[in-house]
Amino acid sequence: MAELPKRSDDFRSVLMDVSVVGAGHVGLVTGACFADLGHSVVMMDNDARRIAKLKRGIMPYYEPGLEELVERGVREHRLHFTTSMKDAVAKSTIIFIAVGTPQKASGEADLAYVDTVARAIAEHLDGYRLIVEKSTVPVQTGQWVAHTIKTYLKRKHVFDVASNPEFLREGTAIQDFMKPDRVVIGVQSVRAKRLLIELYKPLGAPIVVTDMNSAELIKHASNSFLSMKISFINAVAQVCERCGADVEQVAAGMGLDPRIGRAFLNAGAGFGGFCFPKDLEAFIKISEQLGYNFELLKAVRNINEEQKRSFAIKIQQALWVVKHKTIGVLGLAFKPNTDDMRYAPAIDVIKYLQEEGATVQAFDPQAHHEATTLLPGVSLCRTAYDAARGADCLAVLTEWNEFKELDFRRIKALMRQPLIVDGRNIYDPQRLKSLGFRYLGVGRGRVGSGHRGPV
Ligand code: UDX
Repeated sequence: MAELPKRSDDFRSVLMDVSVVGAGHVGLVTGACFADLGHSVVMMDNDARRIAKLKRGIMPYYEPGLEELVERGVREHRLHFTTSMKDAVAKSTIIFIAVGTPQKASGEADLAYVDTVARAIAEHLDGYRLIVEKSTVPVQTGQWVAHTIKTYLKRKHVFDVASNPEFLREGTAIQDFMKPDRVVIGVQSVRAKRLLIELYKPLGAPIVVTDMNSAELIKHASNSFLSMKISFINAVAQVCERCGADVEQVAAGMGLDPRIGRAFLNAGAGFGGFCFPKDLEAFIKISEQLGYNFELLKAVRNINEEQKRSFAIKIQQALWVVKHKTIGVLGLAFKPNTDDMRYAPAIDVIKYLQEEGATVQAFDPQAHHEATTLLPGVSLCRTAYDAARGADCLAVLTEWNEFKELDFRRIKALMRQPLIVDGRNIYDPQRLKSLGFRYLGVGRGRVGSGHRGPV
């Protein structure tokens, strides 16, 4: 479990009335954290069932530490839940918009929820408010939000719009909020700037103040850059496999250069989650609409698609034929410490294997609920050992800590063939080989076809 920050009595700041619209991953963490900093927070969502559950302390998703934080906020009367926009507007000075911006079939971000919320805020506005977009949005959305509110205002009121992108990672969202590397605020007025600086001052992080368009771009550019690092190392891994080098050693050697850095250079079965694939696509699209063909990002996306496919093919080649074979899968979530399976590489890999006629049995510590709907043909096991039972191959797709400490003698005895295909490079190849396993990682020595140099 993540270590919770102590109740924040030592933080000194002017306490404010804040509303957060949208109780999703970003909104709920944002609201719960602001409440913990001492502010009075109204969490608004139009999903009545979600709000009713939150009032009873039931979280809509798993995030380490969140339940305790929400419980504390509610108990100490700083965190309130509502389905009423009127309430949310009435009881706040600063309103955060944290609703979803899902991907349209075309790849661009669907901003319908943001538009609806902007219109609803306009309808209830009764005096000055600062409206802050927290959702990840394409550049120029803030300008549209301001225009929309102005258009739908019932009476003339002064308001500000600002952009304050989030950089929360699932699984460590609370620490990311409480101890950010930086806080980015894109503002159009001194009043908005002062309010946001006051709000974030207690966190002690560098505050980057920009115009709205730049703040919006910082978010898309950052996520795309990180995706690019992953695709880069995955492409290097492909070369490693063709020449017998080890990508882990290559990444370690590269990462020591502070201009490069070791973070996000972990090769594997590709990146997933609700941010990287979606933001990458949206950034490609908005660049296109602005008249720029962002070829580099298209390559980042294509390498990622190919990485998932090539991982499935690696399993297939190791087994010669996968039809009627049993594949045990360890990990379904798109990364550890979350139950989130949105765009998880496990989905594509498993679907490929199923299409080839394999039987798939899987274990994930948190994601079974999601897997039931997303992967109906997969039997979900109670433990990692059950996933290994009778399997011809054990494939690792999420690097949960508990998978690092398995009893491999037991695993070997349970499997039909001692083959481990490690899509997150969590095991020591030598150790597994010495225990009698056939081990294939990603970018760790020679596999498959391609150029065969001297051995
Ligand atoms: C990301 C950003 O990190 C965060 O700043 C932003 O606000 C939201 O998007 P998140 O999607 O929660 O956060 O996960 P992250 O830890 O960044 O990982 C994303 C994906 O990349 C995962 O599938 C992960 O397995 C993969 N990954 C990450 C790699 O394959 N290799 C790496 O080196 C790092």
